[in-house]
Amino acid sequence: MENIEWGTLPFGYFKTDYNVRCYYRDGKWGEVEVSSSEYINVHMACTGLHYGQEAFEGMKVFRGKDGKIRMFRWEENAKRLRNSAQGIMMAEVPDELFLEAITKVVKLNEKYIPPYGTGASLYLRPLLFGSGAEVGVKPAEEYMFMVFCGPVGPYFKEGFKPVKIQLVSDYDRTAPQGTGHIKVGGNYAASLRPAFRAKGEGFSSVLFTDAKEHKYIDEAGPANFFGIKNNTYVTPHSDTILPSITNMSLEQIARDLGLDVERRPVPVTELETFEEAGACGTAAIISPIGLIHDREADKTISYGSMDEPGPISVKLYNTLKGIQEGEVEDKHGWNYVFE
Ligand SMILES: Cc1ncc(COP(=O)(O)O)c(C=O)c1O
Repeated sequence: MENIEWGTLPFGYFKTDYNVRCYYRDGKWGEVEVSSSEYINVHMACTGLHYGQEAFEGMKVFRGKDGKIRMFRWEENAKRLRNSAQGIMMAEVPDELFLEAITKVVKLNEKYIPPYGTGASLYLRPLLFGSGAEVGVKPAEEYMFMVFCGPVGPYFKEGFKPVKIQLVSDYDRTAPQGTGHIKVGGNYAASLRPAFRAKGEGFSSVLFTDAKEHKYIDEAGPANFFGIKNNTYVTPHSDTILPSITNMSLEQIARDLGLDVERRPVPVTELETFEEAGACGTAAIISPIGLIHDREADKTISYGSMDEPGPISVKLYNTLKGIQEGEVEDKHGWNYVFE
């Protein structure tokens, strides 16, 4: 294995030694197979390619200071993948199969779990799709579930820094009664154009508003939104956002730290009342938001300084990171510790 510069790795694809695969055929799941190929052989008429029968997950594994390897809240990823499967009529992956696959892929690629202190981690990507051939629009009879992994660097290479976000209302990533609450590929396809435009206009991400009225905050690209004011953690309640496992964990940590928590619709007009704001997800835990620019209204809202995140965001971030790396007590039992 070549020398890896863990600290500067991007959040991107990295070839490791093995991945694991399993097929659902004739109404049942088969054995977990190990592969060293980066390619999969798919039928040209599979529903995953034609009708978007595809869902995925993203989760991380960390090496702690004590040398132990920890995986964060895998049961929640397993549950969300089941919900995604239900939502687009795919075969569901049972928890036992999900756990067998993810633990196998981690053990087989153990040398790619970054050392403690580098800020890097091993990212796992479970993937489920319709592999059976259909030409009419209907669910496949055959499915493939696979998991690959790769090391990813720390999200913030120069430390925990606020980002600029663009609020948009001329694009929606999902429809009001559509698939926004599950992690299916189509939602991401719909987000590419506005996200790419925002990058070109100098922003790190897009803040989507609700697709029905464009009056409420939905989520921030591949991350949930939260705002802090009056010692309260406020995060949108919406049927069209992905239930973020990071957000769910931050809500609990906020309560543990003595904050109130409100999950409710957040009108766009409330943005300027927050003392701190952030985007949260597996990739960064928290991206503190320094500034939001409303593209249509051409209006900017700033949160403190662009150099320093707010104190509550820092506390939330350090606590969650500490739990994941085994340095803060895991009092809710969120970590799976490898033997
Ligand atoms: C659309 C979307 N929202 C939110 C999140 C954050 O979810 P999590 O905290 O489970 O990574 C993600 C990433 O998975 C996402 O893709």
